[in-house]
Amino acid sequence: MTTLTPVLSEHWDEKDSFTIEGYKRHGGYEAAKKALAMEPDAVIQLVKDSGLRGRGGAGFPPGMKWGFIPQGDNKDHYLVVNADESEPGTCKDMPLLLANPHVLVEGVIIASYAIRAKKAFIYVRGEVTHVVRRLNQAIEDAYKAGYLGKNIFGTGVEVDLVLHVGAGAYICGEETALLDSLEGFRGQPRLRPPFPAIAGLYARPTVVNNVESISSVPSIVARGAEWFSSMGTEKSKGMTLYSLSGHVVRPGQFEAPLGITLRELLEMSGGIREGHQLKFWTPGGSSTPIFTADHLDTPLDYEGVAAAGSMLGTKALQIFDETTCVVRAVLRWSEFYKHESCGKCTPCREGTWWLVQLLRDLENGKGTATDLDKLLDLCENILGRAFCALGDGATSPITSSIKHFRDEYIAHITHGGCPFDPQASTLFASAKAGA
Ligand SMILES: Cc1cc2nc3c(=O)[nH]c(=O)nc-3n(C[C@H](O)[C@H](O)[C@H](O)COP(=O)(O)O)c2cc1C
Ligand code: SF4
Repeated sequence: MTTLTPVLSEHWDEKDSFTIEGYKRHGGYEAAKKALAMEPDAVIQLVKDSGLRGRGGAGFPPGMKWGFIPQGDNKDHYLVVNADESEPGTCKDMPLLLANPHVLVEGVIIASYAIRAKKAFIYVRGEVTHVVRRLNQAIEDAYKAGYLGKNIFGTGVEVDLVLHVGAGAYICGEETALLDSLEGFRGQPRLRPPFPAIAGLYARPTVVNNVESISSVPSIVARGAEWFSSMGTEKSKGMTLYSLSGHVVRPGQFEAPLGITLRELLEMSGGIREGHQLKFWTPGGSSTPIFTADHLDTPLDYEGVAAAGSMLGTKALQIFDETTCVVRAVLRWSEFYKHESCGKCTPCREGTWWLVQLLRDLENGKGTATDLDKLLDLCENILGRAFCALGDGATSPITSSIKHFRDEYIAHITHGGCPFDPQASTLFASAKAGA
């Protein structure tokens, strides 16, 4: 049985965990001191050796990303922390920032030093004013303590940290749209190449990393690469935050080694609410193909989830029991993607609109037998043809739900609308039988 391994969340239950005093009581900012006494390249190597992979969704190793930044080029370099967190189901970065904003500030100091950046930005989504306040306070306190600014710990190292509050658009979490938004433009993805490591913010070499990725760095510096890589699986190292939401007894953040299974996490979270059974779940947020009870023992690491036909994504485990109509859930997600499509490319702008029309028809009893083929055909024309991963992600819940729950879609057609009985929380027997 895998057990929890609280590192990032270790002191979240202390009442002053978010203050600089609370953070320092547990060795806070000692890792930054240690890192600044090392060569920047040695810090990059340490993070590479740890096996840390990006926690923003794609799982690309931050150490490798940092290594792409050209050195000795006499250009300004930038570190940008992606704190946009807008994917439905994804809810780990905001609790982390609320409970311990200083671990991110310390990670920013270390990462900026490693990539020789004198200026760093945190791009936080606009709606979370409570998180913005916490971050502002943490940054102010770090400046006052001499941990940010011109001469950090008296070493001559300079890092300025700017908090930028976005206006609340899911696409601004896509790293190049984020950079455009940060520069004051409308947030829309950029054509790559050039990649941000060569021409990112203000066309300068830039690293964009997720909040959890950067927040994992201080513990790696403090405790060593071997300590970190002793947790997890062969290619997915370390501990991470799994966010359980939905129909579970105790939803929340569960920090565990990569490779834990949903069965184990459900045991820790009190299981599915009493009297109900697991119907479907997302392993990594709404843009990752859904799983069913057949996947309870799938190792939740990058390789295990991919081998089972989905993506680990942000480890946002949204749990749905048998009271949920899968078509309705997929319609809700699709409405989100249609709303958040930035409109830059035709497959996504037009495609997500049509996906919603078809799903609405099905849910409202106007669906026809050909609608499932049309839905799949539309998805095929979006997947791999859209300009960014938002379009691809919009197809995942649809194709995977048709794969696992085709009968339920057909029941919507034969029943002339949603066959779900909200009282009995089951499909009507007649609809099930296809009558
Ligand atoms: C539509 C869309 C939204 C995204 N939203 C986020 C987000 O909110 N936070 C995040 O860290 N990454 C998000 N990403 C992934 C980023 O583009 C990028 O890969 C990530 O910030 C890199 O960080 P990492 O290497 O530390 O994982 C999003 C990607 C897409 C396509
Ligand atoms: S896939 Fe969607 S969000 Fe991405 S660029 Fe195209 S229209 Fe914009």
